[in-house]
Parts: sequence; structure tokens; C-alpha cells
Amino acid sequence: MALIPIILIPDPVLRKVAAPVTEITDGTRQLLDDMAETMYDAPGIGLAAPQVNISERVIVMDCGRDEAPDLYKMINPEIVARSDDRSVLEEGCLSIPHQTAEVERPASVDVRYLDTDGREQMLQCEGLLAACVQHEIDHLDGVLFIDHLSRLKRDMIVRKALKELRQSATSPGRG
Ligand code: NI
Repeated sequence: MALIPIILIPDPVLRKVAAPVTEITDGTRQLLDDMAETMYDAPGIGLAAPQVNISERVIVMDCGRDEAPDLYKMINPEIVARSDDRSVLEEGCLSIPHQTAEVERPASVDVRYLDTDGREQMLQCEGLLAACVQHEIDHLDGVLFIDHLSRLKRDMIVRKALKELRQSATSPGRG
């Protein structure tokens, strides 16, 4: 297992539509293991492959609590049903460090995906898991959580994030 550097805005890989996985190999499984390790290390509750510079449709998520890990590794995940009722949750993104905003999305979704053995799985998601899986699948389509905000709010968050990234790049002692 190995940590992979996380790609930050405004890298264009975050805006690309990722390609479906056509064959699940040991390399795919290794990638998912490394992504999980990278997500836990960050720490975060979800990570999509474009965020580690790999434009393929795979994500990892763990919205469980520390004491009860609940790791999902999804290949070619797809939302097949969305609830009409919506909910608002505070979201952040490892590719847009230190910025959060309230995002409104369908409150629950059904997701179809392949597991690491290539078996088709269905998962009903609600609450935090529903928000997380929608956020991660968005990444596979080049969409970021800030795209769900007003233009004003989005521009403000991007400006703040880029300013902070510039400062951390130039000031010694702030990795
Ligand atoms: Ni994200």
C-alpha cells in the first residue's frame, strides 16, 4: 500500500470526464487500496480516482465512525434512482482544501457499481453516505461540489482556496 499525492484545483484532471474501467485487474485493486489509504491519511470520507490524477471511474468512501470502519470500493458507480426529497449538508473536498459550503442534493440515492471482484452490487444510500456518493460520482464527471453553489459563492471559495494554496506554497514550514 502507498499514499498517492492528492491533486488540487485548478488542475484540469479534476474537470475531465473519467473513463469506465473495462477490466478489473490486480492494478485496479491496488489502486483502490492505495486510494483508501490516502483517504484515511488525509483524512477524508471519500476519494475519487481523478483526485489522484487517474481519470478512471473508481471511488472509495468511508462515512463510518473511526471505531466502525465502513469502507466501500466502487468501480463504475452509477446513480440509478434519486429521491424527490432533498437535503442540505455541509461539504468539503480534499482537492479544495479548508473550504466548505452547504450543498443541496437528493436526500437518498440508489447506486449500482462493480465490486473489486467484478460483481454487480446495489447500495441504497441516505444521509451522509448519500451526499458523499453523489459528491464522489460527480468527480468522475469533472464536477466539483462548488458547481452546485451560486456563481458568487463559488468564485469566493475558489479565490480563497487558491490564495491559501499560494501562501502555503511560499511560506516555509507550512508543508
Ligand atoms: Ni471531493
